[in-house]
Amino acid sequence: MTKDTSVLLDEKRVFKANYKIVEEAHVKNWEAEIEKGKNIDKYWAEKAEQFEWFQEWDKVVDESKKPFYKWFTNGKINLAYNAVDRWISTNKRNQVAILYANERGEEKKLTYYELYREINKMANALKNLGIKKGDTVSMYLPMCPELLVSMLACNKIGAVHNVVYSGLSVGAFVERMNASNAKVLITADGTYRRGKIIDLKKIVDESLLKCPTIETVVVVEHTKSPIKVSELSGKEINYESLIEGESDECSVEHMDAEDPLFILYTSGSTGKPKGVLHTTAGYMVGVATTLKNVFDIHNDDLYWCTADIGWITGHSYVIYGPLLLGTTTLVYEGAPDYPDPGAWWKIVEKYGVTKLYTAPTAIRHLMRYGSKYPNLYNLSSLKILGSVGEPINPEAWMWYYKNIGKGKTPIMDTWWQTETGMHMISPLPISPLKPGTATLPLPGIDVDVVDENGNSVPLGKGGYLVIKKPWPAMFRTLYNDEKRFLEVYWKMPGGVYKAGDMARKDKDGYIWIQGRSDDVLKIAGHRVGTSEVESAFVSHPSVVETAVIGKSDPIKGQVIKAFLILKEGYKLNTALIENLQKHVRYELGPVAVVGEIVQVDSLPKTRSGKIMRRILRAQEAGEDLGDTSTLEE
Ligand code: PRX
Repeated sequence: MTKDTSVLLDEKRVFKANYKIVEEAHVKNWEAEIEKGKNIDKYWAEKAEQFEWFQEWDKVVDESKKPFYKWFTNGKINLAYNAVDRWISTNKRNQVAILYANERGEEKKLTYYELYREINKMANALKNLGIKKGDTVSMYLPMCPELLVSMLACNKIGAVHNVVYSGLSVGAFVERMNASNAKVLITADGTYRRGKIIDLKKIVDESLLKCPTIETVVVVEHTKSPIKVSELSGKEINYESLIEGESDECSVEHMDAEDPLFILYTSGSTGKPKGVLHTTAGYMVGVATTLKNVFDIHNDDLYWCTADIGWITGHSYVIYGPLLLGTTTLVYEGAPDYPDPGAWWKIVEKYGVTKLYTAPTAIRHLMRYGSKYPNLYNLSSLKILGSVGEPINPEAWMWYYKNIGKGKTPIMDTWWQTETGMHMISPLPISPLKPGTATLPLPGIDVDVVDENGNSVPLGKGGYLVIKKPWPAMFRTLYNDEKRFLEVYWKMPGGVYKAGDMARKDKDGYIWIQGRSDDVLKIAGHRVGTSEVESAFVSHPSVVETAVIGKSDPIKGQVIKAFLILKEGYKLNTALIENLQKHVRYELGPVAVVGEIVQVDSLPKTRSGKIMRRILRAQEAGEDLGDTSTLEE
């Protein structure tokens, strides 16, 4: 949300960690850890030693071709091996690795040993489909064990996964599928959502008409709805029959530290979605270290991150972080308020969740129902809470702290991005907290707020959020688009990383995120590019041209406000509005929440014809229009 945070900079409430939290914490002395983090080579080398390497690295970070940084050069490692195989020979062998639960009250548990065998079967099956090291495998799956198994099976054999969030629909799906050149797609019959079954297979069937690279479609019979075998894909096969008879042993691919691990598409300001590329070793080190320290993971934890695996939070902190630390990760399929707004609290009580990581939009949503539902359940197992995706409003923070944490559990407000791969600005459990800020950069991370010339701005003043030193889980490029990688992120003076957020530091150096500096919307914490929404509108027969901006929404943070120029003969009436909303939803999926549509005769443009969304945003916020000298009329 792009809310003015100047009032918050005076935030006087400070919450200090209690004695028990400090006593248990992995990091007990913040200053000492920050001091250690100043020598990034030494700091991250020490963290990398938690893993089993097939071959030791030469150099921790190679900065010779900035911004194409390399981490742990010439090291050989495998993520699946470290996340699963290595636990098999320890006392974690029969510990639950994945605890799947859903809104229907069903559950499935996979121990590390069971997960190991499932991964091996799937890895062998993928090899039989012709998948080799470096090939891309796409997934369009709900939150289900097969998604985790498939991702880890890719890691095991060195294939690169490209997971597409199952809440995205045909247009967005086709775009992401084609950009990644995937040969194999793993999908499911459907997903459970508020008592209904969403037919994912239908979306896939419609999309495949436009996805020429896909040769094989593997279908998980997740909801056991009858599957119509489609004529469209070359080959369609059921997941169970695919892995049937496969050996539950599979050799491990020795990956170079810098071999690609996955691509994850995210929205940018302009043009097509960006294929954020992460590589192997640095990602593992960054994700495992931050999860361990920020959520203070111990052997007896039951950790639950509510994010969908289709987003970076799900990749880093539902699957990889927890398994690399050998903990139990709860994977939940369902909405926070179905069958009633106590659904999540019931899960916390039932399984004794100790660490809960969710998003401000979910908290704001559940807050509407007051304290009634959390009070129905015993939430005393909770030790640490987390927040991610957008700034958390101080009111929501306080509600979360009082009603869910009962004033005892610190809230880790973690700032990071698809691109950063791991937490960057976040408190540790021992940190003094202020509601509404992600506090300070983590040890080893160097962050600043600067003006256009790259100079640090004084405390209290707004500026661009930049990261000054490389970090291990940093993305390495945009898939097939190096030019855009350099243009979008690395053009600030001094060669620092530009995050795309505006921020301010308060007198204690705490960082307050003010919102994006680009045209990316944050709807319920999901990143939605204005250009994708605009393309969806323009593909409707009634629309000539459009500009969309974010409109504040009390629950979702932002929703879409669209300004449309309609073709002659069309009038914006209720029927057309509904039709347009349906159309955009069909193209992009339920993430694209259209809050308001207005018909206009013209749009503010520069003389060179670029739409000035800034003007529309200022108008919407009732602010001064700023510099209008480049405006066409
Ligand atoms: O604007 C920031 C916001 O989310 C953006 C990154 O979005 P995405 O790549 O989808 O990743 C979201 C999950 C890591 C950031 O540029 N953002 C994320 N976390 C926070 C946040 N803004 C404020 N506070 C946060 N804790």
